Amino acid sequence: MTVPLRCVVLISGTGTLLNALLEAIDAGKVDAQVVAVGADRAAPGLQFATDRGIDTFIVKLDRGGDRAEWDRALTEATASFHPDLVISAGFMKLVGRWFLERFGGRFINTHPALLPSFPGAHAVRDALAASVEVTGCTIFAVDEGVDTGPIIAQTAVAVLPGDDEASLHERIKVEERRLLIKVVKEWRRNHE
Ligand code: GAR
Repeated sequence: MTVPLRCVVLISGTGTLLNALLEAIDAGKVDAQVVAVGADRAAPGLQFATDRGIDTFIVKLDRGGDRAEWDRALTEATASFHPDLVISAGFMKLVGRWFLERFGGRFINTHPALLPSFPGAHAVRDALAASVEVTGCTIFAVDEGVDTGPIIAQTAVAVLPGDDEASLHERIKVEERRLLIKVVKEWRRNHE
């Protein structure tokens, strides 16, 4: 019997991607364990972890706060759970040098656009503003740039007439949840 892949998931918001991963693990579809969920604020999605008795932690970056200090604190909090893989699933902060030195190569992020198009915090809005017919989601290995790391997997999503930011983002997230589960499964397979 193999030891499940130890994952720490970082979130900032509703955590529906996190929940999809947790449900897939509960259903025995992914040989992984979420050992902790971290956030940079009191994110509602932390409740998905609390409900399952999974450890949570919050490392806040106050306005005007010391970013390097925050980065070190986030690194230490994450490292204390000894993850094999760190997953940014709607974590809306850029990590710093310390975090990347510790987790580079095993830190992945999910983004609601087909990178390298529409990096940054407003990917869905930016895609609509550019009138693209197709957008999607990307899972990539995080590097020091803003959504620039090596692409691991992507899914395309059509923009429909009448789409607004909320409707398009929701359809993208349906695909993102599937893609995240697939990538974690493959990660497990490739890192036995
Ligand atoms: C997801 O669409 C994720 O790609 C996005 O936040 C959403 C989180 O949804 N992340 C970014 O935009 C990062 N640049 P959730 O809180 O419902 O899981």
